[in-house]
Amino acid sequence: MKTLANLTAIENQLHQLLETDKPIKLNCNESPFDLPQTLKDTITSKMAELSWNRYPDFQQTDLVELLAHSVGLKNENILLGNGSSQLIQQIINCCSKFVSEVIIENPTFTLYHQICQNERLNYKEWHLNENGSFCIENFPTVSEPSIVIITSPNNPTGAVLPKNELETLLQTYPECIFLVDEAYGEFANESSIELIHKYSNLLVLKTFSKGFGLPSMRFGYVAGSKILIDLLRKHTIPFTINVFSELIVRESLTNNSFSRIIKTNQERIKNLRDFSCYELSEIADKTTFSVNTSQSNFLLLRFNDTSLLNEIKEIFAAKNITVSFPITDCIRITIGTEVEMSKVLKIIKQCVNSFKVSCQEAILNTLSVY
Ligand SMILES: Cc1ncc(COP(=O)(O)O)c(C=O)c1O
Repeated sequence: MKTLANLTAIENQLHQLLETDKPIKLNCNESPFDLPQTLKDTITSKMAELSWNRYPDFQQTDLVELLAHSVGLKNENILLGNGSSQLIQQIINCCSKFVSEVIIENPTFTLYHQICQNERLNYKEWHLNENGSFCIENFPTVSEPSIVIITSPNNPTGAVLPKNELETLLQTYPECIFLVDEAYGEFANESSIELIHKYSNLLVLKTFSKGFGLPSMRFGYVAGSKILIDLLRKHTIPFTINVFSELIVRESLTNNSFSRIIKTNQERIKNLRDFSCYELSEIADKTTFSVNTSQSNFLLLRFNDTSLLNEIKEIFAAKNITVSFPITDCIRITIGTEVEMSKVLKIIKQCVNSFKVSCQEAILNTLSVY
């Protein structure tokens, strides 16, 4: 009965949304699902009990312990940050003192290029395959100690570097520091975090902005060997985590109903992603566009025809749908709600159908000349 009521509610929302052009935001890889008001109210009342006149705990011992426990590591292996972006800056800044080069994938999260340029660090690019996957044979030549940055799942392609291939690289280049950015790790099938027990040159970066759906909290952490974490700690400014973020992150790990909501939302997004990918691959072909499976909360569509891409861009803009264009000829679509995805898929299908019809008409016109 409950499922039926849910379905009716979704159907009603779908009708409403198809009628209106209410903004749909699918450009920042955020979760489309906010927390229930009752949960927000419970946490807000706990916030009111905190001492707002005091600095947060300097060491953040409780939170570090909770996180370390959740990933099977020790407190000494964890360093917290104000979002993973702040940690990316801190790690590259720290490593720039003793490495002369950075290896980054192409394509990747643009912040990496920006920070390397700011730090005046040379970078070599590891080019991914046309379908967005990693190709270990393309790994650039490394001649000096470097920092190797791997976003896995990759943003914007959604591909994961298999753990055995990461291990091959870690073993081949023990003099390099590997930073594996698992910002989208909760949507993937595997994590490299357990390799920290085995490789002291590995750092794994985590955020609460994507899989936990809490980008407003600005919270992330980096896990790694004691020696690397101690080194990074020397470059930390005090009190980067405020008491409110600390409280919410702690609640998300210890309050069962909060954890359940997070897990359910992750599963819902993964199902919607796979369903949307399937629907799109059914209409994709070499004249229109391609889409690859993703282990993230977004899909990357690569267009083979610019007029089709422009048509979709224009309709999205007219209908208030914001997506992102991280690389030429591509659209990256963050997975939204069922209703939002239904609207997006409908637009793409309509554009592709009318494109195919106009191509057929053009062929018939050409033939009729002969
Ligand atoms: C690959 C990757 N890493 C890190 C981040 C930064 O996330 P935050 O600073 O919100 O933790 C993003 C944000 O989109 C991302 O795509």
